[in-house]
Amino acid sequence: MNSAHPDSPLLLEAEGIVKQFGSIVALNGLSMKLRSGEVLGLLGDNGVGKSTLLKILTGYLQPDTGTIRLDGEVVRLRDVQHARSLGIDIIYQDLALVDQLSIVENIFLNREATTSGPIRVLRRRAMRRAAEDLIERVGVKLPSLEQPVGTLSGGQRAAVAIARVVQTNDRVLLLDEPLAAVGVREAQTVIDVVRNLHAEGVSVIVILHNYGHVIDLCERFYIVRDGQIAEEGSVAGHTSESLIATVLATRL
Ligand SMILES: Nc1ncnc2c1ncn2[C@@H]1O[C@H](COP(=O)(O)OP(=O)(O)OP(=O)(O)O)[C@@H](O)[C@H]1O
Ligand SMILES: [Mg+2]
Repeated sequence: MNSAHPDSPLLLEAEGIVKQFGSIVALNGLSMKLRSGEVLGLLGDNGVGKSTLLKILTGYLQPDTGTIRLDGEVVRLRDVQHARSLGIDIIYQDLALVDQLSIVENIFLNREATTSGPIRVLRRRAMRRAAEDLIERVGVKLPSLEQPVGTLSGGQRAAVAIARVVQTNDRVLLLDEPLAAVGVREAQTVIDVVRNLHAEGVSVIVILHNYGHVIDLCERFYIVRDGQIAEEGSVAGHTSESLIATVLATRL
């Protein structure tokens, strides 16, 4: 896939992030950088702080100490709405979809297009058209947009979740194990969706446990260990086996 130039501007930076939950130190002074236009993989064992980092980068959690910079400027992300307004959004493994609602309804859940005025009327036709555009943009074939999301395959569900997020967010997409719950062929659908967005200039940080997916999708990786970055590298030149060996070596 196209690589971000090594001199691409820094888009999102975390520096010295500490986050404790009671006596558990989830993040212990972690620092990382996302360049504009890159797909960055976060690797590492269970419980090392990967999800906590993404929750902080999306404003869902506040760090105890540490700094976040967006476009070189220090920002304090107050909450997810604030992060979203700055173009940062996240998709969790569970995709946060409502099975009983249709594809269109899910895409606009809590983001419904309304007419202005005292009575906020849902602009259904406008939403449907916008949903069609979004689905086309993520580049996946879906059945009728009126179909309940509960009837879709894992890859299609992921595509709907991504379409839902990218309607307002063109800058940073954070993905927490987006492929954990989908099958092999479905995973390819999700990988293609992320690649399409990347080709449009969206920058991505993705947590992946399958090293083959890291090779397919990412340009650079960080290995998280004990709430810090243990190792950073370029994916180019790596195989899944050599990546696994690199992760194992950080445990020594
Ligand atoms: N809300 C919370 N309250 C208490 N402890 C938490 C909370 N969230 C995370 N932790 C703890 O912080 C540590 C880091 O958790 P985190 O979810 O960031 O790990 P992870 O690297 O994403 O792991 P996995 O690969 O299993 O998803 C773990 O010890 C976890 O139990
Ligand atoms: Mg996690």
